[in-house]
Order: sequence, then structure tokens, then C-alpha cells
Amino acid sequence: MLAALVSLASQVAIASNGMVVSAEPHATKVGVEILKAGGNAFDAAVAVGFALAVTYPQAGNLGGGGFMVAMDAEGNFYAHDFRETAPAAASRDMFLNAKGEADPNLSQRSHLAVGVPGTVEGLVRTQHRFGRLALREVMLPAIRLARDGFIVHERLASNLRSSDSLLRRFEATRTSFYRGGSTIAAGQTLKQPELARTLERISYGGRAAFYEGPVADAIVQEMKRGGGIITHEDLKTYRSQWRVPLVFDRHGYTLVSMPPPSSGGVTLAQILAFVDPAELRTLGRNSTMYAQRMAEAQRLAFADRNEHLGDPDFVDVPLDRLLSQSYLNARKATMPKNSAGKSENVRAGRFEREETTHYCVADSEGNIVAVTYTLNGSYGMGAIVPGAGFLLNNEMDDFTSKPGSPNMFGLVQGEKNAIQPGKRMLSSMTPTIVLKDGKFALTIGTPGGSTIITTAAQVFLNVTVFGMSLKDAVDSPRFHHQHLPDRIDHERDAFTNSALAELRKLGYTLQSRGSMGLVAAIQRLPDGRYLGTYDRRGYGTAEGY
Ligand code: DON
Repeated sequence: MLAALVSLASQVAIASNGMVVSAEPHATKVGVEILKAGGNAFDAAVAVGFALAVTYPQAGNLGGGGFMVAMDAEGNFYAHDFRETAPAAASRDMFLNAKGEADPNLSQRSHLAVGVPGTVEGLVRTQHRFGRLALREVMLPAIRLARDGFIVHERLASNLRSSDSLLRRFEATRTSFYRGGSTIAAGQTLKQPELARTLERISYGGRAAFYEGPVADAIVQEMKRGGGIITHEDLKTYRSQWRVPLVFDRHGYTLVSMPPPSSGGVTLAQILAFVDPAELRTLGRNSTMYAQRMAEAQRLAFADRNEHLGDPDFVDVPLDRLLSQSYLNARKATMPKNSAGKSENVRAGRFEREETTHYCVADSEGNIVAVTYTLNGSYGMGAIVPGAGFLLNNEMDDFTSKPGSPNMFGLVQGEKNAIQPGKRMLSSMTPTIVLKDGKFALTIGTPGGSTIITTAAQVFLNVTVFGMSLKDAVDSPRFHHQHLPDRIDHERDAFTNSALAELRKLGYTLQSRGSMGLVAAIQRLPDGRYLGTYDRRGYGTAEGY
């Protein structure tokens, strides 16, 4: 009971000099430690990224990829894309079985599911460009956590337990996470010596220590052992990309978010364009007609997402058209006013646990850094690279395995997101910074696959339209529509019974789901201090100084 109270209290913090919010308490502390040592928000963000790879293995990673959206003290915006890429030997139909059907086992649980990892290059390059401290210094806390170990939280223990069938297939994974035949229990100390060694190498050797040499050898060897296709050349040629952030004005605020290969920014911009804040305020949050307006806005935006978006380095992504006012107006005019629209009928997708992770850092100079990074599913495809100590992603499942077939998140996607060598798979990750009158107001982000975008939209509306406190805005129940399957997914307590009945009467199919997203957010208070908040759904913390 006391522990529960303590953890709840640590999900909100107010401070003047800096703020860190992440999904895992040790990692949050690492960020604050780096800020206190004179690091800026970028140093702290890199340190938290490496720490989460140790203490939050369900999503923190070296073997995955992600996005960073940031704002520096001068008000410049940055978007860093360290998303994984398809290996050179990947091909369009690689996940089809003999009958020509998409095989989720191949795209989610096999060595073919692994995209060329981007996280190490992303963090190291961020540090190099913006950090004030040495890479070695920001990596030391992660190295210590891996080498000396940390006490396993009950949520990590239960999370590992529930991924047993994924994880126990691999000897190196069992060596890391199992004790006497079962996953490590809460309260035990988890030491990861091989991971510590890999981090140590990176701290001295930078990107080359991961993409070339013994770590690269270990990855390629594991690929050969397990039937994967990532080669030395794939690793050596991997490059993260600085993209032009997507900046758009909505409802009197400016939002800075991730452009393609994330669908996050574009789809968030569309959803917010399809709703009218004054009307939403009048309707009331999560009322029947609020749900109708939002579900229709989400349906429309996801229809475009699933059809028109992909990696802009490979396919034409008509961003100007998708975000032009005349196009948005024309689309909005098609929304049914008081009834349920209809998406085509396609078999329902299946949802996995929310196991990407989002964190954010703000410092005393005004640098703001928001990072979402991931292995895709919880623990990725489950294999730890023997000798190197880190898990491999299953991000290839974010591509279209077959047009018309749903992926892990039930997303039914199109040709533009088909697999091609070197291409990045379309993402929903939406690290976002919100400005009011040109000044930092709020940063938000979350895991949750396709629900990431609709969660970001709802938290934004909760703060800006409904004037909720940040904690309430983040904690309050959410819902989601993604065009196909044609249905509103909602958290159990999102709607009253009468709103549920009325929505059914309007023609909506509704499905209750456990929980949607794990939001990390920082807001600037009127007096200039930072308010940090983590989601009640997780065990992450906010801590400032
Ligand atoms: O990039 C994406 O959209 C997904 N790979 C994110 C995965 C995620 O959020 C996992 N949690 N459900």
C-alpha cells in the first residue's frame, strides 16, 4: 500500500531547473543525475535512452529504433529519425507463406522480423551534435546499471513472465532474464554483463563499436544461426536522418511533430483539423457526440495514413496535399454529422501490449527533447544477441506484409509501405512539442502502436480544450478508431453506460480494451517552472530538480 502511494506521488513533479519523465524509475534518475552534473537536455536524453536499454528491456533498446523531436534554447526545431531499415536482402513478399498469406509468425517472431537497428547511431549522433558532456560520461550510469545490476520491479517481473513463450526460445535470452527455469522475479538483482560490455565499447568507440567489429560480428552470427538476413554491409551502411520537423498550427497552438517515415505528425494534424475545439468543449469530454466527432475524425485520418504514407526516401508522400486547408476542408465536409460512418469490412486486427516507450527531458536553458523508441512488440522478436547482450526488434512487421492483411496493430496498409531494401517501415510514433505564442507549452508522447496518434490527440485536447490538469489529462480514459477494423476501441471506463448504448444506436461497433498508451509529458507552468507527469497506467516517474 505504501509502495503504491509512493509510486503515485512520483508520477508528478514540479521543478525549475530541469525535468525528466520516463517509463522506469532508475532511468528517470539517471537523467536527473546528468542534468545535475552540468549536462543539457540532450545529454540527459541520451543517458536515459541508454539506461532504459538496461532497466526497461521490454522497449528500451540498443537493437531497435526511434524518433527524437527537439527544440533548442534558441527556438530551433529538430527531428531525428533513427528508425530501423529493411536489410538489403529483404523483399516485398518475404512474409507470405506458401498459400500467399501474410504470416505474422515470420514478421513478428522470426529473425526475418528484425530491421537494421538505428538506436545506437541515433543516440550517439544526438550526443555528438548537441551534447555538452562526453559520450562516456552520459553512458556511465547505464554501464553501471548493466554491470552492477538493479532490483527488478514487480511490473518488469510480470511483464517478463507474460512474454515467456516469446523469450524462452533463445538460450542467450534465458541466460539474461531467467533464473532456474523461469523469468527473474521481482526483488531479485538483474545483472547484464554482456550488455555492460557492449555499452562500454560504444562509450569509447561510438557508432563504429556497434555497427562494425565484434558487436556487428555477433549480430551477423546470430542472423546466420536463426535464418535472418542482416549482413555486415547492412550494419555498416546504416544512417540515421535529420528530417524537417512537421510544424502546424491548430486551435491557437503550434505543434512540432515527427514527419514521415512516421505517420504520427501528419495524422495528428489531420485529426485536429477535423474537429472544432469550441464544439468539443460544448459537447463535453467523452460524451456520445464527442466520441462520434473524434471517431469520425480518426477514421478519416487513418484512411489516408494507411493508404498514402510510407518512407519519403522511397515513395512519393503527398504531404502538401494531405495537409492543405482546401483538402482538409473537403474531407471534413464528408464526415457524418450525427451518425456512424462505415469503413470497409475487414477482419479485426489483434492488439499487442503497449511496449514501445516514450520519455522527455527539459533543462534550465529551454532545450526540450522528446524521444519515442522501440523494439516494436514487447522484447521485439525475443532473441538476445549472444555475446552482445541486447534484444533484437521485430519492426519489419510495421511494413505492409500484404495489402489488405492487418499487422500486429490491426493496421491494414497499402503499397506505399511495401517492403523494399533499405526502406524504413511506416511508424505511428508521435513525439510532439506544443508551443503557445511561440513559447514552449507542452511536450507529449506515448507508446501504443496505432493508438499512439489518437492518444496524443486526446491528451492535447484534454489540456487545451478542457483545461484539465496535466495529470488528469494523461490519466483520463481514452478511445481509438483507425479506419479498419471499423470499430471504436476504448478503455473500460472511457464512456458511461448510456453513452455506450447511444453510440451503438448510432451504428458504432465498440470494443473494450485493457489500456491504451503510457504517456510521458512536461508542461511549462505560468510561473516558468516545469511540471512533469507520467501515466497512471505504468510505473514510470517524473523527477525534476
Ligand atoms: O513505430 C510504430 O508505430 C510501432 N512500431 C510502435 C510500437 C509500439 O508502440 C509498441 N506498443 N504497442
